[in-house]
Amino acid sequence: MPKSIDIIRGEHRALASVLNALREIVDGVAAGRFQPDFQLLSAMMVYIADVPEIVHHPKEDDHLFARMKLRSPDAGVIIDRLEKEHVEGYALTRELEHALVRWQGLGQGAFAQFRDCATRYLEFNWRHLNTEEDELLPLARRDLKADDWAEIDRAFTANFDPFAGPNREYAALFDRIVDLAPAPIGHGGSSRA
Ligand SMILES: [Fe+2]
Ligand SMILES: [Fe+2]
Repeated sequence: MPKSIDIIRGEHRALASVLNALREIVDGVAAGRFQPDFQLLSAMMVYIADVPEIVHHPKEDDHLFARMKLRSPDAGVIIDRLEKEHVEGYALTRELEHALVRWQGLGQGAFAQFRDCATRYLEFNWRHLNTEEDELLPLARRDLKADDWAEIDRAFTANFDPFAGPNREYAALFDRIVDLAPAPIGHGGSSRA
């Protein structure tokens, strides 16, 4: 298994766990099980905005997709769609941030708008992650050769250092989300209703 695929999958798993936690928290607030905890929600918002945009998408766009365009003609249509979704995802992220600030600023009356926005956001992101895992990565494994992977691994390793720079900051942010999130989602308890 190429190291780059491990890195992509690991970043998908970490993002998926924050997205799942957001779903649980929004549903818990709607059901009256949790009080909104805006410190936690803001930490989650920073993670789901920054990690894809700063850490994850550049690896895909600049290295994996770029090399697949040269080696995997069958992946062209999927790559076009995924690249468009990266751009669309930025807009949806800004919309979700705005809905979160409105909820915090206006109070519970603005919760339904945030909830609808979060639902659209989560569905969009599940579809995107599943397309990459189920459709793109199998084509990458089929069509890229050892020297392609060596080149992508080298670029990914330069971008991904879990112990220094922005990635370490995001690892700490992930730990903070787990600490703040109410049990059983995380280890916190502050937002229990
Ligand atoms: Fe992507
Ligand atoms: Fe991805």
